[in-house]
Amino acid sequence: MTAHHGARHVAIVMDGNGRWANARGLPRTEGHRAGEDALMDVIAGAIDAGVEVLSVYAFSTENWKRSPREVSFLMGYSRDVIRKRRGELNDWGVKVVWSGRQARLWGSVLKQLKETERLTRNNTVLTLNFCVNYGGRAEIADAAAELARDVRAGTITPDQVTPELLGSYMYQPDLPDVDLFIRTGGEQRTSNFLIWQSPYAEFMFTDVPWPDFDRHTLWECLRAFSERDRRFGSAIDAVRAPLEPGTDTAT
Ligand code: FPP
Repeated sequence: MTAHHGARHVAIVMDGNGRWANARGLPRTEGHRAGEDALMDVIAGAIDAGVEVLSVYAFSTENWKRSPREVSFLMGYSRDVIRKRRGELNDWGVKVVWSGRQARLWGSVLKQLKETERLTRNNTVLTLNFCVNYGGRAEIADAAAELARDVRAGTITPDQVTPELLGSYMYQPDLPDVDLFIRTGGEQRTSNFLIWQSPYAEFMFTDVPWPDFDRHTLWECLRAFSERDRRFGSAIDAVRAPLEPGTDTAT
């Protein structure tokens, strides 16, 4: 596949791991383990399809409400997945970046994220935006706080604040806006994922639980995306132009 689908940035809410596992009589954590394989296959598929940026929601600022056992598992598992997989991702030419809030995040997770960012910083094949302890409103609030500090310091004035300027305070300001936003697992909501970056994203919701999603399902989403009519707020006048006098309508 080539990049003719036009989706530079694909964002995925990897939902349905717990239900996938429970439906098989397994603990929820087994669903997250199966989700790791799905993630690696989807990264490979995104590279193959010419996607530039893939953002994935690994842990949200709201996930702290889960049982302490599941929170610990997700933190430890994220740390292990990053450490275990970074060599392979680096070989594939993937540049890994982290989006999220530092507060509460386990130090060991942060350490692995930072090491992986450093290891892969010169790669250009695909950017994997790994969102851990991420929340869209938290990101916007953090951006507003940074901006307020700069106003107080006198480096900018309130009348200079534009969407572009505020956008430059987000966690990964250099990434393009989201083109295609996919959520697996049957729910149809954003759950606070990349809300600043998705004003004109095309949304796709699939009942497929994340562990059953793979490169082929991703390619199917990209195909469907290429058929969407994206207007970014503009309009197309669909009234047909009148025929020229004397035009032969019979042909
Ligand atoms: C949502 O499923 C998934 C997560 C909260 C974690 C995402 C983690 C992975 C895809 C595994 C890869 C590994 C990591 C941690 C990098 P859910 O638990 O909300 O499922 P449910 O909606 O069925 O309860």
